[in-house]
Amino acid sequence: MLGLMTTTARLEIGGGKTVELPVRVGSEEEVGLDISSLRAHGGAITLDPSLGNTGACESAITYIDGDQGILRYRGYAIEDLAAHATFPEVCFLLIHGELPTDEERKDFRLSLTRHSLVHEDMKKFFEGFPPSAHPMAILSAMIASLSAYYPGEETPDAIDLNVIRLLAKAKTLAAFSYKKSIGQPFVYPRNDLSYIDNFLQMMFAVPAEPYHVDPVISDALTRLLILHADHEQNCSTTTVRVVCSSQANLFASVSAGVCALWGRLHGGANQAVIEMLEQIQADGANYKKYVELAKKKDSDFRLMGFGHRVYRNFDPRAKILKQSADTVLATLGVRDPLLEMAKRLEEVALADEYFIERKLYPNVDFYSGILYRAMGIPTDMFTVMFALGRLPGWIAHWIEQRNTPGGRILRPRQIYVGENARAWVPLERR
Ligand code: ACO
Repeated sequence: MLGLMTTTARLEIGGGKTVELPVRVGSEEEVGLDISSLRAHGGAITLDPSLGNTGACESAITYIDGDQGILRYRGYAIEDLAAHATFPEVCFLLIHGELPTDEERKDFRLSLTRHSLVHEDMKKFFEGFPPSAHPMAILSAMIASLSAYYPGEETPDAIDLNVIRLLAKAKTLAAFSYKKSIGQPFVYPRNDLSYIDNFLQMMFAVPAEPYHVDPVISDALTRLLILHADHEQNCSTTTVRVVCSSQANLFASVSAGVCALWGRLHGGANQAVIEMLEQIQADGANYKKYVELAKKKDSDFRLMGFGHRVYRNFDPRAKILKQSADTVLATLGVRDPLLEMAKRLEEVALADEYFIERKLYPNVDFYSGILYRAMGIPTDMFTVMFALGRLPGWIAHWIEQRNTPGGRILRPRQIYVGENARAWVPLERR
């Protein structure tokens, strides 16, 4: 870990009390005041309700410069990874810190293939869900359930194996949840197919006829999953790290991450974008009306797929996806009016003073849904796709959190603003 403690900052709290705080500087010159001794030496805590200004860890996995629109996994630019890597290569990179050698790549691929079947008993779980169940509900439940099948002490070897199991089985579970929702038989994984092609055939093959994976779709899905693979301390990753810090197992921690991702302010935004575009379309494609609505604080409407906590510039992933949407739809011969609508909406919003002033740009979710639609993936599976992509990131952070020397349970404090101590009131006097 390259974080260096270089200087000291001095904080005056009042009443003549001054506290010296170490300053930590990261490998990209990011500066953090280490306030871990503030309460002990200054009798105060920091208050940052949405954690927007709080670093909860030092991490060597992903670097983002939100002002410049830079994203790197383990030092490699997202643009290079999206152009050249396979998804398993990115999984390996995030989890192990380096790109795999040829031999490591082959071994990793073989392990992922060998572990993609799920225990036959798990198939029975699917029978219990109503057909209308959201696939994110099923995915989180199934990932948590893996702990029941693979319990035991988490030795380094056992963790390595569980990492492989999770990566390999999650795509099978995701495809099964889709098959369940449309009443088709489950399609088993095939060892001769790549990770992505295997997933596509489990989603779309039926026993009645042969299924051939379209390389354009396989390639587009590879890029999408790579772009989603990690994003440092976002809501779901932080959730995984918090759960991990209590020494909960990998499956339980990642299942919690799936739940955190589901919300529409996070990964659920890809589904919400399509629903919003359909609503605008049904309402006569009046972009201005919806941009105006998004600006009204009492309207409860936001432009989904716009804005980001860390990017105050174009999200580099959205840039790649916008280009990809054009080429993929053209190659597949798909004409989706929602793509044109998304572009028009982006244009109108980016010319608006409210969005300019707040530096609100399209994020990764703005164009991803249009690509998923073109591949034939139904809207309520979009966030599941995001979860499949984010798995290696969650796993890498779970391992990093677990291996943090002297790592303590994550447990924030609060400023209490409730009632002061008062006497018990018997029932007849309330
Ligand atoms: N539409 C309209 N106004 C917005 C939007 C939006 N999409 N996003 C932010 N704003 C406004 C806020 O109201 C706020 O205005 P104010 O300064 O007048 O109060 C200002 O821009 C700053 O926004 P915050 O809410 O403080 O930004 P925050 O970092 O808390 O939230 C978030 C980020 C949740 C992504 C937000 O931009 C949003 O809700 N976007 C829509 C949902 C979305 O696309 N989520 C996916 C994010 S990417 C991902 O998780 C994969």
